[in-house]
Amino acid sequence: MLERSRELLYALVAVVFISIVYLVMVALERDLPPARELYGHAMGIFGFLLMLMTETLYTARKNLKSARLGKMNSWLEFHIFTGIVGPYLVLLHSAWSFNGLAGLVMLLTGVIVFSGFIGRYIYSAIPRTAEGIELSLDELELRIADVENRIHLVGDLASADANLRALDKQRTRLRRQANGIVNARRLLALWHLVHVPIGLTLFALAVVHIVSAIYYASLLH
Ligand code: HEM
Ligand code: HEM
Repeated sequence: MLERSRELLYALVAVVFISIVYLVMVALERDLPPARELYGHAMGIFGFLLMLMTETLYTARKNLKSARLGKMNSWLEFHIFTGIVGPYLVLLHSAWSFNGLAGLVMLLTGVIVFSGFIGRYIYSAIPRTAEGIELSLDELELRIADVENRIHLVGDLASADANLRALDKQRTRLRRQANGIVNARRLLALWHLVHVPIGLTLFALAVVHIVSAIYYASLLH
């Protein structure tokens, strides 16, 4: 279970580390670091770059389809890591003030992270290989047949209770996946229709915020 959620664990460690540094800064300055000053700016820029990587890298890997570029699973884990840490840095950058367009960009950022967690849940209902490639229903049926064969083989041996129970559990899980595969795929496609446009709107508005922030807040002061 922990192995399957390790990107969440790494993200949590990064969030705790960033929070400690942030609290030290607040204690030293006796105030929240403002968005337009050195620390606030740095958090905004670094967070935005992580978000930009979240938006582009996984999709690029998906389209390139070359195994030499690493497992799809690892890219999705990285997507989730940067998709949590980037928005968290940007949240600290806002100095907890959410006015105007920047406030709307922050809200959309919160929505896309929340939506990401829902997508991750649906995604995990679709059976895949260790590399993260989707299994077809036929491949799934083959796996079920293989487990059933092993159940027969193990069943012939005495004192094989634990093995039988493990195989039986595996068979139940595979059957559940085979029954739900069509709906899960449909649901994930539907979820993409929401998640992807939110990302695009978010980045379009973020660019407006950044350009106007640099223009008004930095250059004119
Ligand atoms: C998706 C990324 C970003 C989000 C969601 C975001 C969000 C915000 C928010 C909520 C505020 C506070 C607005 C207020 O209530 O006054 C703010 C302020 C600011 N942001 Fe960002 N920001 C992002 C990226 C950036 C980047 C990359 C830069 C710099 C290049 C930047 C520069 C600024 C500046 C200078 C201010 C201060 C504006 C002022 O005090 O009038 N932001 N941002
Ligand atoms: C800044 C935040 C985020 C942005 C901009 C973002 C953007 C995107 C985009 C553009 C896609 C479509 C990829 C494609 O199919 O080509 C995607 C897919 C996905 N995202 Fe995110 N995401 C963010 C955060 C998250 C988070 C926090 C999670 C999980 C907790 C997450 C989980 C997923 C999942 C499971 C998929 C579907 C993968 C697939 O169908 O192959 N995302 N995201």
